[in-house]
Amino acid sequence: MNRFNDLADFPVAEIESLLELAERLKRQPEPRALEGKILSLLFLSPSLRTLASFQAAMGRLGGNSFVISPDMSIHGIETRPGIVMDGAAAEHIREAVPVIASYGDVMGIRAFAERRDLATEIADREFEELATLVDVPLINMESAIQHPCQSLADWKTMNDFDVPSSGGRFVLSWAFHPRPLPLAVPSTTVKMAAMRGMDVVVLRPDGFALPEPIMAQARALADASGGRVTETEDRAEALEGANVIYAKSWMSTQHYGDKPADLAAREELTDWCVDDPWFDSADADCRFMHCLPVRRGVVVSDRVLDGPRSIVIAEARNRMFAQMAVLHRLLKG
Ligand code: CP
Repeated sequence: MNRFNDLADFPVAEIESLLELAERLKRQPEPRALEGKILSLLFLSPSLRTLASFQAAMGRLGGNSFVISPDMSIHGIETRPGIVMDGAAAEHIREAVPVIASYGDVMGIRAFAERRDLATEIADREFEELATLVDVPLINMESAIQHPCQSLADWKTMNDFDVPSSGGRFVLSWAFHPRPLPLAVPSTTVKMAAMRGMDVVVLRPDGFALPEPIMAQARALADASGGRVTETEDRAEALEGANVIYAKSWMSTQHYGDKPADLAAREELTDWCVDDPWFDSADADCRFMHCLPVRRGVVVSDRVLDGPRSIVIAEARNRMFAQMAVLHRLLKG
């Protein structure tokens, strides 16, 4: 393994082996496993969890890390290809990435979605182009269409809380948000739950269906694992017997790249805020999950987020253990 980019690149057995390693590293720390190794982290968009959990993960394994982001005192970075650089930016990403990579033994890159052209983003063109500039093991820390570290942590979290895999009902629900958000988390999440063999339901309003190539891939993964993937806008139907309600907002795929049209489409959808009644017909032990950050009172009510169903803090903490496993596997085999 020299690249961690898409959970679907790996057989389920390899994901399960990574999860076992994550649990082992949690229970039996290996504080010298990556001694002398350096992790370089390039953040082209903001982060709390990914930034902190990668640094903590590397530190707990005895390695070191450094972070580069546009907010720091660095030269302005130009990301557009083929541009004449006569503006403010003094450095191009095409030099910045290989230089940063050359200082470390493994690299993580976060490159957010531009939310302009759906086909470009499904192809993850920006991240894939950056990946060609890196000659050390590479971790996708969220790109236009992938967030594999989040999904690995989510899978571990469901294992930790005994959420059934085979036959467990996983509802990925769109939620209201004042801004159109990228597709990375929902796209990766639907595939993760399908790989886990779950009965996956994508609950979303009209106009917010996930892209068909992503759904097709998720259905194929479910076929292979004995799971199932369906979608509906019928909330009552979706939530019946749910073991997990995983909330996330994303941009309208019907109006992709057209922000005013997206905002108009979501204007009437403020009741897509997860609240106690959503759990009425769910399984008695149904859990609430969200990748964070989450807007209280917008995406989910305080009483759900602060209540016993919510496992969002454990989910965020598992980012660190999941990434320890990824780093260990990338650097030690
Ligand atoms: N879930 C997640 O990736 O959080 P950050 O954006 O804070 O890293």
